[in-house]
Amino acid sequence: MTQHIGELNPPVRLMLTPGPSSIDPRVYRAMATPLVGHMDPWFKGCMDDTQVLLRQIFQTENRITMPLSASGSGGIEASVVNTLEEGDEAIVAVNGVFSERMYEIATRATSKVTKVEAPYGKPVDAEDVRRAGKGKKIKIIGLAQGETSTGVLTNIAAYRKVADELGALLIVDTVASLAAVPLHVDRERIDICFSGSQKAISAPPGMSPITVSPAAEEVFRNRKIKVQSWYFDLTTAMNYWGKDRLYHHTPPISLIFALREAMRLVMEEGLEARWERHRMNQLALIAGLEAMGLKLLVENPADRLPTVTAVMVPGGVDDAKVRNQLLDEFNIEIAGGFGPIKGKIWRVGLMGYCSQKPFVLLFLAALEKCLLDQAYRVPSGAGVGAAIRNYSNAETATAVSR
Ligand SMILES: Cc1ncc(COP(=O)(O)O)c(C=O)c1O
Repeated sequence: MTQHIGELNPPVRLMLTPGPSSIDPRVYRAMATPLVGHMDPWFKGCMDDTQVLLRQIFQTENRITMPLSASGSGGIEASVVNTLEEGDEAIVAVNGVFSERMYEIATRATSKVTKVEAPYGKPVDAEDVRRAGKGKKIKIIGLAQGETSTGVLTNIAAYRKVADELGALLIVDTVASLAAVPLHVDRERIDICFSGSQKAISAPPGMSPITVSPAAEEVFRNRKIKVQSWYFDLTTAMNYWGKDRLYHHTPPISLIFALREAMRLVMEEGLEARWERHRMNQLALIAGLEAMGLKLLVENPADRLPTVTAVMVPGGVDDAKVRNQLLDEFNIEIAGGFGPIKGKIWRVGLMGYCSQKPFVLLFLAALEKCLLDQAYRVPSGAGVGAAIRNYSNAETATAVSR
């Protein structure tokens, strides 16, 4: 009963994980500002700001656009349970753990869900989805733009075409891609798009930004039965985030402050510049990894998700030992693989605040040390050297094109 618990003093890590990512000091400061009530007139203005910024980042004018008080999985749950009723038919494109999660959640809403799969490391071919939906009345097609478990990017345009042909709504998980990868919700006619606060937006975990098209709202209005989840019923949740600002639940106010500041940072940088920064830093990272003789899980460069690079653990090297050494000796956290590729890959995240040249170079140097300690021979400085050359070439090319 007398056990003393000391003051909280977490280590300062560089989180090069597939989320959460490290965050900008401005975001910490916003989070530590005084709490106000969720019905305070001042806070209502702060909610307006948050929604303006979310619409800019999603590139949408959708009325239903808000941060759900939930992690990214809440975004999956809300998208699925608001659209599907028992008996509805759905297709989910599955190429990893998170798209599998959407499939699993959909099967709890209706018994008629078709899973269309691709091997880990590849996107699901939209043609396979077209074939699976032929002759059926498909209500939704779901996919992850960025499959974090494997580092695969899926091109949305082909899916929109298939969804149009099948008369289905298109649901896109952008938890690992929003604010890092080109996305235009209105132009690409995505019906429900959701994300997570903790990845390329670089706010703390706990909020799931979501946006809903007028076509999806129409589907909500025409439901035969109420959404089985009271908390994730988007129509009633929007009574709080809509013009009436009616109480629905108490939102995580300090997280909304943090999200607002993180999104201000995104828009100060500019979406295009941010997408380019993520692309460039991943290219430099890959150049460094390849110069160290390492192989990537995703073979086709066009399929690589700029925020998460999946690196094959070389033979004779202990996956966990490298990750532990990076953490203990360099304060750098990376992630391992899940499911069938557990122990076979490392996942290196360069998301939002973490997608920076100094962090790429530091990581490559630290990884070289960990590999050498396990007798994996790397030409001295090969990774850092290749990454530096990649940056220099890109800078020269940019200067020439100016
Ligand atoms: C693509 C994707 N979808 C969904 C999730 C689930 O998000 P959360 O862990 O925040 O619930 C994640 C988490 O990593 C993800 O990467």
